[in-house]
Amino acid sequence: MSSNNFYLYRRPRINRKKKRLRESIAETSLRPEDLVQPLFVSSTESSDIKSLPGQKRLNLKDLKLKLLELKDLGVGGVALFPVVPDSDKNETASKALSPHFYTEALQLAHEITPELVSYSDVALDPYTSHGQDGLVDKSGHVLNDETVDILSQMAVLHAQSGVDFVAPSDMMDGRVIHIKMALDEAGFNQTGLMSYAAKYASSLYGPFREALGSTLAKGSDKKTYQMDPRNRKEALLEAQLDFEEGADALMVKPAGFYQDVIRDLENNFHLPIHAYQVSGEYSMIKKAVLSQDLDSQVILESLYSLKRAGARIIWTYFAAEIASQL
Ligand code: PBG
Repeated sequence: MSSNNFYLYRRPRINRKKKRLRESIAETSLRPEDLVQPLFVSSTESSDIKSLPGQKRLNLKDLKLKLLELKDLGVGGVALFPVVPDSDKNETASKALSPHFYTEALQLAHEITPELVSYSDVALDPYTSHGQDGLVDKSGHVLNDETVDILSQMAVLHAQSGVDFVAPSDMMDGRVIHIKMALDEAGFNQTGLMSYAAKYASSLYGPFREALGSTLAKGSDKKTYQMDPRNRKEALLEAQLDFEEGADALMVKPAGFYQDVIRDLENNFHLPIHAYQVSGEYSMIKKAVLSQDLDSQVILESLYSLKRAGARIIWTYFAAEIASQL
């Protein structure tokens, strides 16, 4: 009997009594294998990225060291993104279709860290002078089917370089089935396809575009192919199509502002659901931690929240940092 004659038949605090009890009843967990580290690959010198403190554009030599470090940390995978020099960008993204430093980087990952699951970026924006993810006609319209053709060729090139999963990040219609067919025809029926199924037209990609030096012309945007942040059901349509077209995994991007969508996909599709905590999310959290306005535990909290929402795999710029603490 409590001293104040206060009786409660159920006291949830009992299950929070001891650290080991809390550990043993935790509903979600985070392991290094759950994380994918996005990396920026540069053909020139390694350099810092102002809006992403702690992240770098890596030349091939530094990339190699980073890959070995990630392997030792037990991180699940790496997603490689190319930083293409302006002089190699053009209207048609032609540099995307022949072997270059990026395919060398994919090959390097395949050879020196085969334990890591590698994901390649199948999209044109790193290679286009206008910064769009597709070919653009005279009136500025982003062309769908012509772009998908190029993406399919690009995916085969990446598969030839030994990547585990190609990851189309562009949101063109029909890209999954066309890429899958192209891979199969070229003899790569073991190369996976991780589809950015629900990718929103978000302002959270700013630091990523800075890292790539990919700027859209003033007044233009990606709203005719990336999704409207106001929509939820549309994500189910996109996911369903990508599922039917043969995707091996589905992604929601960005992550933190779209947890309802993560849950919807997890409930409705029998495929691993990835969540991409994008550059702007990293930037906001990292800067608040660096200025000591927030305790660094907030990083784990952000990742657990994605697990709770239903993400199986999380792409995050915090992967190496967090894996070293787990
Ligand atoms: C474009 C692409 C973007 C990101 C990954 N691939 C940006 C965009 O759509 O403009 C953003 C990732 C991030 O912000 O971390 N194909």
